[in-house]
Amino acid sequence: MENYIIIVVILLVTIIGLKNLLFSTVNHVDLETEIDPEKDSSKDIEETTVIREFTPRQLSNYNGFDLEKIYMGVKGNIYDVSKGRQFYGPSGPYSNFAGHDASRGLALNSFEIENVRRWDEPIDDLNDLTELELKSLDNWENMFKGKYPCVGTLIPDPEFQSI
Ligand code: HEM
Repeated sequence: MENYIIIVVILLVTIIGLKNLLFSTVNHVDLETEIDPEKDSSKDIEETTVIREFTPRQLSNYNGFDLEKIYMGVKGNIYDVSKGRQFYGPSGPYSNFAGHDASRGLALNSFEIENVRRWDEPIDDLNDLTELELKSLDNWENMFKGKYPCVGTLIPDPEFQSI
């Protein structure tokens, strides 16, 4: 009788072990199918980034120095170019663009400070640019749209619009 019980227990343990082995494989598959929707939902979060409005003065804080994040304006949209810190960070070649509307500089293919509006100047209407310069700006804009997330739009600061 005792032997019989021991055999039954061993059988049960073996069956449970086999069952676990089987289920762990199924769980693995379940886990993988669960990961995909998760990836999709993180994409949704990216797509629903809140678009904020920035005045030139507010934008100027995001120069990678006063604030770690680096934002840059192109044709009225603000892009988070933080991942391009080697270009726009304080010691990068295009640091003049950081925290600024870079539209004129991009259109003229110049990173000189005189082609970048200060935050206490009105927003650049770019009215004097030639067709070729505007085309160049459009090409740059496409690059920024493809590479960096858009985080906001540039709005006038009433205090500095009438200079
Ligand atoms: C002296 C001449 C210049 C050289 C040798 C140069 C070189 C470069 C190089 C090697 C890159 C990286 C390209 C890549 O990642 O595939 C780059 C990107 C860039 N350059 Fe220049 N550049 C010059 C002038 C300018 C000027 C005058 C401007 C002003 C508009 C400018 C604006 C940019 C911008 C906005 C990027 C894109 C950076 C990014 O990916 O966010 N560059 N440049």
